[in-house]
Amino acid sequence: MAAATELARPTELAAFAAEVASCTRCPLAATRTQVVFGSGSPTADLMFVGEAPGFHEDKQGVPFVGAAGQLLGKLLAGIGLRREDVYIANCLKCRPPGNRDPQPDEIEACEGHLFRQIELIQPKVVATLGNFATKLLSGKPAGITRVHGREQEVTLGGSRVLLYPIFHPAAALYTPRMLEVLETDFRRLPDLLGRVVVPPPPPPVAVRPLEPRVPAEPLQLGLF
Ligand code: URA
Repeated sequence: MAAATELARPTELAAFAAEVASCTRCPLAATRTQVVFGSGSPTADLMFVGEAPGFHEDKQGVPFVGAAGQLLGKLLAGIGLRREDVYIANCLKCRPPGNRDPQPDEIEACEGHLFRQIELIQPKVVATLGNFATKLLSGKPAGITRVHGREQEVTLGGSRVLLYPIFHPAAALYTPRMLEVLETDFRRLPDLLGRVVVPPPPPPVAVRPLEPRVPAEPLQLGLF
């Protein structure tokens, strides 16, 4: 039987989505049609994180519904998964006008939403789609060309997860060679999902040096 916390997760995620729907933390609130929170299973073991909603996502309120999203669906089908089996979200929940790059203040304002989302979903594997999500979630500057297809253990939303960088599907739309790379990287996902991520050992407990022994009071030996 599912634990009580497991049963509460979908409700908590829905409540959090309702809260984020009216977010005004950054200037994108003024230009968006709506917040694109995320979609899929609230208890998914596999979560995909892209960059930010585009034109179609902003209109429909669902991530990855445009051409890149269609390809994401095909890649998922190739490993026997449907969109409903996974969770799909973006680093930014609102569309930057004209699909421009996210600005530092927008990233800072929005990243807390993503981390809370991960905390509630508790995925085992977080697949980052493209450079932007990979750098943000790994906290490292290495680009996607160097790190794609290589999992790394990280702590996200308070849990150990396997971070798995993949090229953004948009990169493969017009480049057949890139599609092959994406398919190869996708084929490793079932194996990664079967892995248990062991929490890191607790930091060593500082051992207090022994107190110097205080010499006992000399016994006052009475004469009698
Ligand atoms: N690209 C993204 O990074 N996210 C979307 O939702 C759509 C396209």
